[in-house]
Amino acid sequence: MYSIARNLLFRLDAERAHGLALRALDVAAASGLGGLLARRPAALPTRAFGIEFTNPVGLAAGLDKNAEHVDALAALGFGFIEVGTTTPRAQPGNPRPRLFRLPEHAAIINRLGFNNAGVDALLANAERTRWSGVLGINIGKNKDTPNERAVDDYLFCLERVYARAGYVTVNISSPNTQGLRDLQGEDALRRLLGELCDARERLAGRHGARKPILLKIAPDLDDSELDAIAEVLAASAIDGLICTNTTIERAAIAGARHADESGGLSGRPVFAKSTNVLAGMRRRLGTRLPLVGVGGILGGNDAAAKIDAGANLVQVYTGLVYRGPGLVAECVTALRAQLGARP
Ligand code: FNR
Repeated sequence: MYSIARNLLFRLDAERAHGLALRALDVAAASGLGGLLARRPAALPTRAFGIEFTNPVGLAAGLDKNAEHVDALAALGFGFIEVGTTTPRAQPGNPRPRLFRLPEHAAIINRLGFNNAGVDALLANAERTRWSGVLGINIGKNKDTPNERAVDDYLFCLERVYARAGYVTVNISSPNTQGLRDLQGEDALRRLLGELCDARERLAGRHGARKPILLKIAPDLDDSELDAIAEVLAASAIDGLICTNTTIERAAIAGARHADESGGLSGRPVFAKSTNVLAGMRRRLGTRLPLVGVGGILGGNDAAAKIDAGANLVQVYTGLVYRGPGLVAECVTALRAQLGARP
């Protein structure tokens, strides 16, 4: 059924198709038909950073930037949903076109640039959701906030979302906000994570609950950069790491239509890179820190490969566009078989 919808959607401009698909999902869920779109996966209870997940397959950030579609997306069977990236103030993002499909590579290039309605709008939407599952909230900085003051934007968002979030992701790995990835440098990262973890201690006291903070990194880091990040993480109170965001590398799609568009590449071409970073961080960090594997999961085997590489949880985005909502149950089924879940 999804292949018919996909043929129609792929005739439209990618960003229009994205909006239309989400609105259709909302309508289906509101009329009680959400369950028809995807087989609900069997449970695969998984514990990570102090949270119990019904299954380890989540939605990656960026698909629902303002938490407008959480209930509809939850009907697809996700074990957790990450919304955002959100920023302190609303911002339009980059000029269109800024989203491109590369069907022959099962890939997407995006340079959306954190288009979002601002953290207060996201929160208002999140407060209205009926879903009781784990909601991750991914936070970033506004485009016009200089890197010297980036910490203030992250602190502002952390404080705002703290009460509602199941966990909070610190996104410093989008290639579409100039200079953002520089925050992955050792000194900047130590300062950012230190201030966020200090703020979390204060918030935990005030709210009577300690919410996990995760860091999301890029796949384009070399070994010495990964070494430095691992050292900072080991010395910090951060609870988990998401590997990875999109890549700026184009080697895997050389010659393809849209290959020269700037932005972050996701889907099949990022699988090997992000899985290498995941495995490398598992090696560096030992078993201490839970890892979330994301990047190029197009089927159950890919999800299983992320677990083999050291992930505790996985997330999908581009795979949903190419494979449809059935991908969630397919991944859970593969992980149940891999992890030996009882029928
Ligand atoms: C993303 N991604 C993303 N990540 C993030 O932390 N904040 C964001 O706002 C976005 N926005 C975004 C928009 C679009 C159109 C895409 C395709 C991706 C990155 C995403 O969460 C994920 O890390 C990568 O896309 C790799 O996973 P997939 O897509 O290959 O499964």
